[in-house]
Amino acid sequence: MKIVLTCCLLMTSLWVSSQEIHKEYTATKFPDRVILGWNGGDVSKSQSVNWRTDSSVTVAIAEIALSTGSPDFTKNATKVNASTEALIVNGQTVHYHQVHFTELKPNTMYDYRVGDGTYWSEWFQFTTASDKADPFSFLYFGDAQNDLRSMWSRTIRNAYSKMPEISFMVHAGDLINNANYDFQWGEWFEAGGWLNGMVPSLASPGNHEYARNTTTKNIELSEHWKPSFVHPQNGPQGLEETVYSVVHQGVLFVSLDSQAAMLDSSKMESQAQWLEKLLTSNKNKWVVVFHHHPVYSTKAGRNNEEWRNVMEAIYKKYKVDIVLQGHDHTYGRGINMPLGSSRKHPYGPIYVVSVSGPKMYDIGLQDWMDRAASNVQLYQLISIDNNNLSYKAYEATGTLYDAFDLIKDNAGKNELVDRSADLPKEQLDLPPAVKEKFTEEQMKEYESRIEAYKKRKGLK
Ligand SMILES: [Fe+2]
Repeated sequence: MKIVLTCCLLMTSLWVSSQEIHKEYTATKFPDRVILGWNGGDVSKSQSVNWRTDSSVTVAIAEIALSTGSPDFTKNATKVNASTEALIVNGQTVHYHQVHFTELKPNTMYDYRVGDGTYWSEWFQFTTASDKADPFSFLYFGDAQNDLRSMWSRTIRNAYSKMPEISFMVHAGDLINNANYDFQWGEWFEAGGWLNGMVPSLASPGNHEYARNTTTKNIELSEHWKPSFVHPQNGPQGLEETVYSVVHQGVLFVSLDSQAAMLDSSKMESQAQWLEKLLTSNKNKWVVVFHHHPVYSTKAGRNNEEWRNVMEAIYKKYKVDIVLQGHDHTYGRGINMPLGSSRKHPYGPIYVVSVSGPKMYDIGLQDWMDRAASNVQLYQLISIDNNNLSYKAYEATGTLYDAFDLIKDNAGKNELVDRSADLPKEQLDLPPAVKEKFTEEQMKEYESRIEAYKKRKGLK
C-alpha cells in the first residue's frame, strides 16, 4: 500500500470560509435528503431513491404512480418496500432508506413519495430515460465543497433554472469539505433541495470525501457516501459506488475514484483493468469519464503524474471523448497536444477542470489549456445529440463563459469547434486572498504567464 498525500491542504490557508455559524440538520420522522440515483439497472426502466429519517422510523416504503395532471394519480399508486440502514452521527442513530423502482416505462413521467406510511415526503416527479439514443443534456459541477448552503446554492439553482430538462447531474468530487461532518452534508442537500428528488445524481468522491477513521486509523471513504447515494455497484471489488458505469441514451458514463488510487496503488491498477475491460466491449458512440483529480492540472506545481500515466493511455487507446474533473478550484478546458499543432482533430480527450463552490485557488495557465477562468463559480451544461456533443460552461450568474462542440464522423473521429472566441474576455484576475499573499516576484511571474498564455492563443 502506498500513501501519496494531496497538496489540497497547503492551499486552504489562502481561503477563508465566510460562514462561521452553521445550522444543525437534525433528522425527524419526516423524510429529508431525498435524492435520486441508479443502482446499475437499465436507466430507461429503473430509478432508485435514498432518504433520511430519525431512528424511530423502522418501516420504510415508497409509493409510485404514472404522473397525471389530475390529482387522482395517487389512487393508482403502487407501494414498494424500501431497505433501511443505521448510521451513527454525532452520537445519534439516524436511518437511511433506499428503494428501487423497477419495470418502469421508458421516457415516462412518474410521481413518487417516500415515508413510513404516516410521515411522508411530498410527491416528487421524475422522467425515465429513453431506451433509444435520443438527445439529452446533463449538468457537471466541479468542487462545491465550502459554504454550501450560503454560496454553492446559487450555482446549482442557477444551473437548474438554465436547463430544467437535464437528465442528471454529475459531481466530480469534493462535494463537502470534511468527509464525516453531518452539517456539511446537510448543507449540500439543502442547496440542491427538491431538485435532488427530481433529477438523479452521479457523484465521484474527491480527497475531501475521504478521512482518517479514528478506530481503524486508515483513510476511508466518508461514512455518509453509501447511505446518502444510490450508485451502481458494477465497479471493481472494494470500490463499489465510487467506481461505476452508467449507459444513458447511447452514452457511456464512467466514474473513477482517483483518491482511492492515490491512497493505494492496487486500487489504481484495479480501476485501470476494470476500465480497459469496460471500454473494450463498449458499443456506445460517446464516452464521458469523470473523476476528481485532474489528468492535467490547471495550476503549476500540482501534478497527478501516476494517475495521468495510467489513465491517459487508456483514454487515448479507447477514444474517451471528454474527461470531467475538479480539485484545482479554477477553470481550465483543453487538450494534451503539442503546442503549435492544429487542435481541430483532438488526439485524446477534451479535459475540463471546474469549480462550482466559492473556494478559489491561483491558476497556472498551463500549456494544455485553451480556455481558463480564475475566481469564478461555474457549472457546465453538456448536450449530446447523435454525432454532436455541445459543451457550455456558465458562470453562477448564468452568463455563458465557455463553449465548444465535438462533431463525430462515422469513423468515430472528433472535430473540435471552439466557440469561445466570440465570448467575453477571459477572467484571469487572481482571487484577492491569493493576491494578498503573493510576493511581488510571484505576481510578476503570474503576469508574465498571462502574457505567454495570450501570445500562445494569439490574443493581445
Ligand atoms: Fe477541492
